[in-house]
Amino acid sequence: MEQKQVQLKDIYILGIESSCDDTSCAVIKNGLLFSNITASQKIHEQYGGVIPELASRDHEKNIIPVVDAALKQANIQLVQLSGIAVTRGPGLSGSLLVGLSFAKSLSLALNIPLIEVNHMQGHILAHFIKEVNQETTHPLFPFLCLTVSGGHTQIVKISDYYTFELLAETEDDAVGEAFDKAAKLLGLPYPGGPLIDKYAKLGNPNKYKFPIPHLKNNNFSFSGIKTSFLYFIQEHVKIQSNFIEENLNDICASYQSHLIKYLLKNLLAVSKETAIKQIAIAGGVSANSRLRDELELLGKRQGWETYIPKFQYCTDNAAMIAITGYYKFLRNDFCGLDITPLARYGL
Ligand code: KG4
Ligand code: ZN
Repeated sequence: MEQKQVQLKDIYILGIESSCDDTSCAVIKNGLLFSNITASQKIHEQYGGVIPELASRDHEKNIIPVVDAALKQANIQLVQLSGIAVTRGPGLSGSLLVGLSFAKSLSLALNIPLIEVNHMQGHILAHFIKEVNQETTHPLFPFLCLTVSGGHTQIVKISDYYTFELLAETEDDAVGEAFDKAAKLLGLPYPGGPLIDKYAKLGNPNKYKFPIPHLKNNNFSFSGIKTSFLYFIQEHVKIQSNFIEENLNDICASYQSHLIKYLLKNLLAVSKETAIKQIAIAGGVSANSRLRDELELLGKRQGWETYIPKFQYCTDNAAMIAITGYYKFLRNDFCGLDITPLARYGL
């Protein structure tokens, strides 16, 4: 008897990310990334932080060109899409609303499922993005992820694509904020994290010392470090008016080294408590060169397998939303068209 070959349908997921100041769209086919286009907003540089009202307006302007470019680069038509994955939160309400409303309209017009994605889960699952003709390794379950961004600092245990357990987090500010606020005090534009990283490469990380908070659990606190940095700068500038200009590299190197040491100290404690040695980092601050280097060194000493995302998947991008959406699609985990953005959205 003639055997019929069963032809499985290709799964195309369009991912949309607009939680903060990046408008991004990506296309994933059967789990493989075909395009990832991001429009970053420059307008916030002059204000020293993201202005929510301006961010939503820019998303509104950018979203159609970005989606169009992502479809073109992937060389597919809208009608080929199987599902739309979109960031529901956490993030700025107005920014989220633009991406979510657009995704809902598209899902309705094409009569395909809408998949809501938690932005922080997206950062973590960025480790599972696969690219055409590129070998990639990814963490094995269960693994720990230090997720560090402008709004979050978390240590998460991931047991499978769908199970995320928060083991530690910041009790006040995020580490990205500690980078950005310090940079602002140093007169650097927003976002200051990458600039601190750049100047730190030329400085002495042991020149200045800052306090490490001692919390009873493995949680973080960055507000005290931020305040101590403010006093440190004020005191030195009082004595030497050009203190910042004369010592910029050493200030950046010492402050950055301090933040990284603190992050890794708690990550090590959680790894010991859970006996998990598959260790990943994710989020915008995981682009930091010292964090990447120090994690590898610590990992070698501790016998960890460490996973560091490519630079383009550290900061906000839609590829991470599309891959998370792809795994939810495989489970038929869809949502209704009546969902609203969640500015705060736990894991
Ligand atoms: O994940 P992300 O793009 O957006 C949020 O979800 O918040 O993270 C943005 C944060 C900003 O605070 C930015 O300063 C920081 O990531 N960042 C860095 C570096 N690149 C981005 N911080 C330190 N060193 C870097 N190289
Ligand atoms: Zn993010």
